Amino acid sequence: MKRILVVGGGGQIGTELVPHLQKIYGYDNVIAADVKPDVVKRLSLTSTAVRLDALDADSYAEIVKKYKIDSIYNLVALLSATGEKNPRLAWKINMGALLNTLNIAGETGCAVFTPSSIGAFGANTPHNKTPQDTIMRPNTMYGVCKVSGELLGDYYNSRFGVDTRSVRFPGIISNGAMPGGGTTDYAVEVFYKAVKEGRYTCEVPADAYMDMIYMPDALKATTQLMEADPLRLIHRNSFNIASMSFTPEQLFRKIKERIPDFSYDYSIDPVKAQIAYSWPDCLDDSCARSEWDWKPVWGMDEMVDDMLKACRRKFANGEF
Ligand code: SER
Repeated sequence: MKRILVVGGGGQIGTELVPHLQKIYGYDNVIAADVKPDVVKRLSLTSTAVRLDALDADSYAEIVKKYKIDSIYNLVALLSATGEKNPRLAWKINMGALLNTLNIAGETGCAVFTPSSIGAFGANTPHNKTPQDTIMRPNTMYGVCKVSGELLGDYYNSRFGVDTRSVRFPGIISNGAMPGGGTTDYAVEVFYKAVKEGRYTCEVPADAYMDMIYMPDALKATTQLMEADPLRLIHRNSFNIASMSFTPEQLFRKIKERIPDFSYDYSIDPVKAQIAYSWPDCLDDSCARSEWDWKPVWGMDEMVDDMLKACRRKFANGEF
C-alpha cells in the first residue's frame, strides 16, 4: 500500500485529487499539505492535513519522514497570468517547491508526480496536433518553470534514479475549488457566472483555441500514469494528454444552447491574449496513449451538462 503526500493539496487539483487518492489507496494513506492555515483547516475536515511551506526543506523532509511517505504529488504552482505579474516570485515558488520535492525524493526513495502544462509550449511550437517532442520556447515565467521542471524531472530520474512522472495538463475544468491566476480559468468562471448572474465578460479572445480537460479525466490520467509499468515508459517528464479543445466562443455557445438568456461579451486582457495565442490549439497525445493507455472519457457536451448541474446545485446550496 502506498503512503502519499499531496503538497499544495488545497488548490484546484489537490482538492479533488486527495479524495480520489483516498478512494484508491485508503483514507489513512493520503496526507494533504498546504501552506495556508485556513486551507489546512478545510482539508482536515475530510483528510489528514498538515501545514507545510514547501519552500522550507527541513519541515518538508520531516513531514515525509514522520508520515513514512513513499509518493509525493507536488501541486504547488503560481499559474501563468499571475506569474506575469510577479515573475521572480513565480520562479521562486514553482522551482523552489519542485527542487525540494526532488531532493527529498532522492534521499528517501519517494516517487514524484508534478504537473507540467500546455504552458510549457510557446509561440513557435507547432500549434496543431502539437507533437510530444517538439520546440519548447515558452514566453511566460510559468512556462519557463514548466520546461525547467520537465528537464529536472528527467535529470533526477536518470542521475539519481528518482521515479519522476508528469503530464502536460490542458486547462482543467472543475467544480471543486476554483483555479486562480491562469489563462484557462475563464472556462471555469463562466459556468459560475452563467448560473448566478446569467452573464459573463471574458478576458481571453473569442477565437483562441486551447486544450481543456474535465477534472475526472485529469484525476484518472494522474493515477493511471503513476501506476503505469515503468518498463513501458519511453517518456517521463512530461506527457502530452488531450481531451477536448475549443475557443471561448464555442464554449459560450454551448452554454447559451442550455441557458438561452445567457449573455456574454469580451474585454480582452492583453497579457492573457498573448499567452492564449502562444499556446497550442490541440495536442497530439499518442505517446501517452501507447505508453500507458491514456484515453479520456469526457467530451465537451457531457462536460458542459455536468458543470451546469454542479454549479446549479452549489448555487442552490448557497455555496457561491
Ligand atoms: N491552467 C494553466 C494556466 O492557465 C495552464 O496550465 O495558467
